Amino acid sequence: MSLLLDEIALAAARLAEAGVESPRAEAELIAAHVHGVRRTELHTVPDSAFDARFWEGVGRRAAREPLQHITGLAYFRYLELEVGPGVFVPRPETEVMTGWAIDRLREMDVAEPLVVDLGTGSGAIALAIAQEVPRARVHAVEADPIARTWTERNIGRVAAAAPYTRGRVTLHGTDFTGTARSGEPGAADLGALDGKADLVISNPPYIPVGASVPPEVGEYDPPAALWSGADGLDAIRGVERVARRLLRPGGVVAVEHGAPQGAAVYWVFCEEAGWRDTRNHKDLARRDRFVTATWPGERAEG
Ligand SMILES: C[S@@+](CC[C@H](N)C(=O)[O-])C[C@H]1O[C@@H](n2cnc3c(N)ncnc32)[C@H](O)[C@@H]1O
Repeated sequence: MSLLLDEIALAAARLAEAGVESPRAEAELIAAHVHGVRRTELHTVPDSAFDARFWEGVGRRAAREPLQHITGLAYFRYLELEVGPGVFVPRPETEVMTGWAIDRLREMDVAEPLVVDLGTGSGAIALAIAQEVPRARVHAVEADPIARTWTERNIGRVAAAAPYTRGRVTLHGTDFTGTARSGEPGAADLGALDGKADLVISNPPYIPVGASVPPEVGEYDPPAALWSGADGLDAIRGVERVARRLLRPGGVVAVEHGAPQGAAVYWVFCEEAGWRDTRNHKDLARRDRFVTATWPGERAEG
């Protein structure tokens, strides 16, 4: 056994005791981060190079700090994004909804599809679309100024790796419900997009106030990214109001929600409210995860 493997085994036991779900994998990822190698290259770290900072990272993870805050990185589809205090860590569930949106955009007979991502956080959804649909123009909306510092950093990071995204992602420091932030620059600038968006997408806050969440979420994700009224649907109702304003006839909306909220969100976007082709979609664990709908008009997409 190498020293590092011994240390990883001990760390995995400590993380398991602390209630971390995948303790061995996470211990290996912390070791890989500290030693600047991939997880599959850990065998190349000689005993003499063992770095005691490994145990500092393990201590933080045992205190239930998210792995992504320790490494400073989150992976989302084909992106490596910077994350840390003050920004929501993107989740794998959201990759499925983003993939749905990317497929729809690729099918659209529109030269430069216009996309609005409401509540962009790290920029995960907006930047994945910009990377994977190079023709798209993406407007990313985020009310929280601390979260926006991370969005800006990631816009620059993605532009450095994929220069064709440069200038195609516009960040708006706006409350998409239009109820606050009147003093902020760009507060009213979404109005210029009214009736023009081909696709509106959002992973808004959707946890009912008072619900219990794991420490990684409750203590590290920003409150504005989590809580949304007594039934968790306040922000989703806000997305519905904004989407009907922003979409051109035939444009589509996709909104993420919590697993038990599928039926309730379907009704927010129901026919009686003017929407067509409303559908529930599941995530990789086969739980209800997002709703899509079309804003009707002559240019309806197939
Ligand atoms: C659940 S996080 C999602 C972040 C990112 N889209 C993702 O999927 O990883 C929701 C984000 O919406 C932002 N947000 C919440 N309410 C908002 C509002 N009314 N206007 C603009 N941004 C809002 C939060 O600050 C947070 O960054």
